[in-house]
Amino acid sequence: MTSARPVRSPTPASEVRRTSDAGCDLLIHSAAQLLTLAGGPQRGNELGRLGMIEDGALAMTDGRVIAVGSTGELRRHHRARREIDARGGVVLPGFVDPHTHVVWMGDRAAEFELRLRGASYMEIMAAGGGIASTVRLTRLASIEALMLEARPRLWRMLTHGTTTAEAKTGYGLETGAELRLLEAVLRLDGEGPLELAPTLLGAHAVPPEFSGDTQGYVDLVCSQMLPAARSHMQSSRPDRPLPFVDVFCEQGAFDLAQSRQILATARRLGFPLKIHADEFAGLGGTALAVELGAVSADHLVHTPPTDIAALGRSTTVAVALPCTPFGLAEHEFTPAQTLLEAGAILALATDLNPGTAWCESMQFVIALACRALRLSPAQAIAAATINAAAAIGRQDRIGSLEVGKQADVLVLDAPDFRHLGYRFGTNLVSLVVKNGQVVHPVWPEG
Ligand code: NIG
Ligand code: FE
Repeated sequence: MTSARPVRSPTPASEVRRTSDAGCDLLIHSAAQLLTLAGGPQRGNELGRLGMIEDGALAMTDGRVIAVGSTGELRRHHRARREIDARGGVVLPGFVDPHTHVVWMGDRAAEFELRLRGASYMEIMAAGGGIASTVRLTRLASIEALMLEARPRLWRMLTHGTTTAEAKTGYGLETGAELRLLEAVLRLDGEGPLELAPTLLGAHAVPPEFSGDTQGYVDLVCSQMLPAARSHMQSSRPDRPLPFVDVFCEQGAFDLAQSRQILATARRLGFPLKIHADEFAGLGGTALAVELGAVSADHLVHTPPTDIAALGRSTTVAVALPCTPFGLAEHEFTPAQTLLEAGAILALATDLNPGTAWCESMQFVIALACRALRLSPAQAIAAATINAAAAIGRQDRIGSLEVGKQADVLVLDAPDFRHLGYRFGTNLVSLVVKNGQVVHPVWPEG
């Protein structure tokens, strides 16, 4: 029997009598609180329904949840090939991180220091640093080198409880390099155990060879890069859905008309959409996302009130990235309460990237969201699980512990769910199950 680290002394398995023969691969039991997050994405002020079962248990077979209930009930009805005693900890769905730029080369520690001395993020970018400096290194890398550099980050994400993440390209900014990044994401997803949802962010910044000709680059993205990405998917992964297409709609990056051109072209080619909107200035990107039926609109720090109202009436998920202002030592955050009042589906993500937010931990995002966005721990947990799943269109498969869904499960070394948020800077996750398999910690057999 494998155990998560102790919160209180375990009940020896031998003391429990079983009265039925129903089999399962894995049973996790004796959770002080099992959070199911059942019932689908949570809109507006409904956010925070945890679907909690006290002294809860969960049975899994073939990578899927087959039963959720009380420990007594499940141990009576399920003969498990393997049991894990959660020992009074919290059990919840794996976190979904719906906005990351996890594949890049190098780092920007020197820029961090410059920013602390007063340079702004967009000033550094305009001077040829920022995203462009990561692009210089990333363009030189092979697919294998990109994968090698990303793997330790993916491992840190997994051990901090992220079982599925979105992963953007965007440090290639030319068709060949963007396709290498996309291929690295697809292969890393194939390796597992962390599952990745790919996004093509060819319009992340204007590359140096198009300096002064943003429109020329936008035309290239539309006429060459998007069709090439589509053909690449159709020839190499005909069974997979197309990746998301994203654009950085911002002063100094792509304006509203250019963002519209890229996203409308992508939509015509069949790509699902995302957008970086209103990070530094409100250009109308959020209303554009709603108009084009984007799956999510992300950042939303300076979103105009009319755009917030439109978002609140839509199914486009609002993704808040509190690590980004925190990482930039800025003080304005996504107005989460206003978004909830408007009825939006609010999700949280890390924005993991080398420039603004090198953070692999959704636990840290939750702690920050409780303080800077004034979310309750229950709201932040729902925003990091079922609503985050909705932000990548996978709410029917992941994000909650319900019969038939994928068995992506965490055990926390904490007796109460509010320890997520309350505590920060250490890892509360003691066990990670992906697709019904224990993937962390991995202990030697025998
Ligand atoms: O979401 N704002 C654009 N993209 C990233 C930053 C990427 C970088 O600086 O490398 C973001 O914050
Ligand atoms: Fe981003």
